[in-house]
Amino acid sequence: MKVEKICCIGAGYVGGPTMAVIAQKNPGIKVTIVDINAERIAAWNNSDLSKLPVYEPGLAEIVKETRGKNLFFSTEIDKAIDEAEMIFISVNTPTKTYGKGKGQAADLKYIELCSRNIAKVATTDKIVVEKSTLPVRTAEAVKSILDNTGNGINFHILSNPEFLAEGTAIEDLLSPDRVLIGGESQEAIESLASVYSSWVPQDQILRTNLWSSELSKLTANAFLAQRVSSINSISELCEHTEANVDEVAKAIGMDSRIGSKFLKASVGFGGSCFQKDILNLVYIARSYNLNEVADYWEQVIIMNDHQKRRFSDNLIKTLYNTVSGKKISMLGWAFKKDTNDTRESAAIYVADHLLNEQAQVSVYDPKVPKQKVYSDLNYLNTRSEEENENNVTVSETPYESLKNAHAVAIMTEWDEFKDYDWKKIYNEMKKPAFVFDGRNILDKSKMNEIGFEYYSIGQ
Ligand code: NAD
Ligand code: UGA
Repeated sequence: MKVEKICCIGAGYVGGPTMAVIAQKNPGIKVTIVDINAERIAAWNNSDLSKLPVYEPGLAEIVKETRGKNLFFSTEIDKAIDEAEMIFISVNTPTKTYGKGKGQAADLKYIELCSRNIAKVATTDKIVVEKSTLPVRTAEAVKSILDNTGNGINFHILSNPEFLAEGTAIEDLLSPDRVLIGGESQEAIESLASVYSSWVPQDQILRTNLWSSELSKLTANAFLAQRVSSINSISELCEHTEANVDEVAKAIGMDSRIGSKFLKASVGFGGSCFQKDILNLVYIARSYNLNEVADYWEQVIIMNDHQKRRFSDNLIKTLYNTVSGKKISMLGWAFKKDTNDTRESAAIYVADHLLNEQAQVSVYDPKVPKQKVYSDLNYLNTRSEEENENNVTVSETPYESLKNAHAVAIMTEWDEFKDYDWKKIYNEMKKPAFVFDGRNILDKSKMNEIGFEYYSIGQ
């Protein structure tokens, strides 16, 4: 099937950047991204490119080049579905917060709604592509909905999970390690492969069966998160033995069988997917009664929760066992640098813990708006919105946040934090001035020289 029109349902962190790149690399294909969230669509259409809903280096330039030519953002979902030959489903698949599987299983209600909508409005044959991360065997449910409520037309289901990481999404999309396509119809697989082959070499486009493709996505995230939890577990041992976790990471990473990436010890991994996808994997394993498999992967999450908790416990203990009434400046709120995404950011949990101990928390992040900080804390439901308002300030500048602080906690590895005038900051902080570097981005000896009491992870 020749693809001339693509529809993508879901204009989020995956749908937006992925479709922008597909449009840029395929000027002959009309790509329409639709969403039920009218505000988000309006933001994607904003003439001020600094107001796009997703911040990613390089994204605004591609949107500028393609928007209005062959890339469109719209709320007219039915129209876009019906006119496209290929429909990507790129909606959110969060962890269930209710009913069976609460706290573990993926909530597939948005996927089902999309499938039912496609079935309802489609009048011609369609290739339906699962772009969202889904539990293995979801395609079976999607196919069943489409085949049973459709208008007697043919649907081919493909699984095409996305491997981009936020902060480097455009780079990852432009030169992916691989593109994975799982499916039953060879013809449909080749239609999708032809879209990617505009810029991805053939040997990097993997074709598999549906279930391998769905499961590979969960497995990739589980392996990546496991590396972070593994090095974080070693960081705690380093703190008791005078070994240095960065030196250990370098030493093991030079073994080509281990590799050097994803060995950076931190305050704990965040992001919308690692935890959600591992919990989902654990849930699936348990549903097949594979309890050892489930327990094995669950440990990655347990370790990560421990790492976040350990960071705030250390901070409190070092500040003479109390932070009550003390100003703690948190640098960074995003779950990693170069993104405005805060989902599951370690900063949220550390702040929550410090607030329970009656700290006065002051936050500065170069890309996260004030309201997001409050809504993240309010979402936890630990205390009233009013209490969060009273005990948390979000500063416009880092120096305002750091002034008169008893301690600084570095939560995100934003490059600009390294270049701050730390001498000036020291002079303006309460003494002794403590720094807790949750990302090991500052130079310990320089910080000590200035006069800081500097604590990092695993050193
Ligand atoms: P997101 O929340 O940023 O975006 C999802 C969008 O889908 C939202 O704008 C929402 O309004 C829209 N939506 C939900 N139901 C809809 C419906 N019925 N019709 C139209 N629009 C609807 O989510 P995201 O981060 O883009 O993630 C999407 C999927 O991709 C998830 O399954 C996630 O696991 C996976 N994924 C995410 C990343 C990432 O870096 N964020 C990377 C790889 C894979
Ligand atoms: C991750 C995967 O890297 C992507 O391949 C995947 O597509 C995506 O999840 C997804 O499915 O959503 P992302 O969460 O955007 O991407 O970012 P990562 O770079 O993986 O970082 C995740 C978290 O781990 C961040 O909080 C980061 O700071 C932390 N991390 C990462 C470490 O603490 N140490 C490391 O060495 C690497």
